[in-house]
Amino acid sequence: MTKLPKDTNRLLDNHATLSRRQFLKSAALAAGAGLTLLPGGMLRGANAPSHQLTVALIGVGGRGRAHFGAVKGEKVVALCDVNERAITEAAKVFPTAKRYVDWRRCLDHPGLDAVVCSTTDHTHAFIANWSINRGLHIFLEKPLANSVEEARVVRANYLKHKHKLATQVGMQRHAIPNFDRVREAILDGAVGTLEHVHVWGNRTHSRTAYLPAEGDPPPELHWDLWLGPSPWHPFNPGYIGGCLKWNMHWDFGSWQVGDMGSHTMDLAWNAIDAALPTSAEGQGDPFNPDVVPSALTMTFEHPANPWRPPIKVTWYQGSHKPNSLGGVPTQPGHGALFVGDRASLLADFNQHEFVPRTEAAGMAHYRPRPAAERIAPMGGFQEQWVQACKGDLKTACDFDYSGTMIEQLLLGLVAYRVGKKIQYDGAVGRVTNSPEANALLKREYRPGWTLNG
Ligand SMILES: NC(=O)c1ccc[n+]([C@@H]2O[C@H](COP(=O)([O-])OP(=O)(O)OC[C@H]3O[C@@H](n4cnc5c(N)ncnc54)[C@H](O)[C@@H]3O)[C@@H](O)[C@H]2O)c1
Repeated sequence: MTKLPKDTNRLLDNHATLSRRQFLKSAALAAGAGLTLLPGGMLRGANAPSHQLTVALIGVGGRGRAHFGAVKGEKVVALCDVNERAITEAAKVFPTAKRYVDWRRCLDHPGLDAVVCSTTDHTHAFIANWSINRGLHIFLEKPLANSVEEARVVRANYLKHKHKLATQVGMQRHAIPNFDRVREAILDGAVGTLEHVHVWGNRTHSRTAYLPAEGDPPPELHWDLWLGPSPWHPFNPGYIGGCLKWNMHWDFGSWQVGDMGSHTMDLAWNAIDAALPTSAEGQGDPFNPDVVPSALTMTFEHPANPWRPPIKVTWYQGSHKPNSLGGVPTQPGHGALFVGDRASLLADFNQHEFVPRTEAAGMAHYRPRPAAERIAPMGGFQEQWVQACKGDLKTACDFDYSGTMIEQLLLGLVAYRVGKKIQYDGAVGRVTNSPEANALLKREYRPGWTLNG
């Protein structure tokens, strides 16, 4: 049910006896909540549960199609893609929507409530921030950003507007019940006192450079808009056809750090209640200015929180994926190992198991919570956002949660690039022991593109 400001609820309960003066007062309160109060006390407005959202879909090929189902019951009024062929396909599902190739024009489509964005990573923070600036709810594919600065700008802007906007980053594995079972086990002491969380993914890439010029872009593809804010690169058809064709290049993505990192780090992040790290370090393939390393290890130090001491978090990718850690085999391609002083918990997305410190010690120290006290299932991931737009604005992977998580990971890439352990002041977003690292917290944009439009 929609949660209204307390006063509004009270006034609506009494609508049958409203005097004209009371009605005007109620209407003013309702307007503050984005609602229209009709005579008789009925609600109409952007936050009423029956309201159909007016939605723009940006990036409607590839991953974009995975979100069509969640918004089919809404009013999809705008479709945007730099590839007109993708728009033609999407228009078969949403035939009355207006078509755009430039997301900046699309965001100014009249009367929008909400945006679903599934474009390339290097445009995410832009589309997110421009949407927030226009008062639009947004579902944004992961990762939220492609630099530390982008993550901070979007998160800060969201925090200013969170009283009226629902945001969600496309970390949909978060809805798998195992995520919450892992959180419960860690909070309930299954591993004892938590010390270190290891997280990994085994994808590799073999690119060593941006692709050379190869032919002209096909007539349906707006290549200059595909590049958007990133430095210019010549067209090559090898960039087209899904995120694994472009996300290993610094100007377009952060390889597995933002890709599977957004999913697998979430498995850990959901269970450790972490804020920003105080330090980061990273080692991997030798630095290449064109591509993000395929093999990489990054370690972060996190301060204590109210229920646990300081911990370390380590991310491994590609050939750095460990085969075992402290004698525990880490078989899944993507997974996490939570190490405590009494046991470890080994998890992939769907299941987890406990590994006691010694066979003799076993798991007798841990009593799983009764089923009735389990965290309630969140339901459909995209659907949660749609309902949040119309209701209490609360989502599991909002821009605060997801922004903090990706800021940590992207900071690790900065540490890798400077080749030393960096100390981080998360309150102000500055590295305190490396001016060189501070220069790498942000990216350069092509003239004419601004993050804050
Ligand atoms: N949540 C998940 O499980 C999941 C899975 C796959 C991809 N993704 C994410 O979705 C995003 C898209 O990935 P993909 O594999 O579909 O890539 P893709 O290259 O196929 O791009 C998707 C669509 O966006 C369009 N597009 C690209 N840049 C655009 C722009 N500036 N404006 C408008 N449209 C634009 C493309 O033409 C394409 O139709 C990536 O950020 C990726 O990380 C998430």
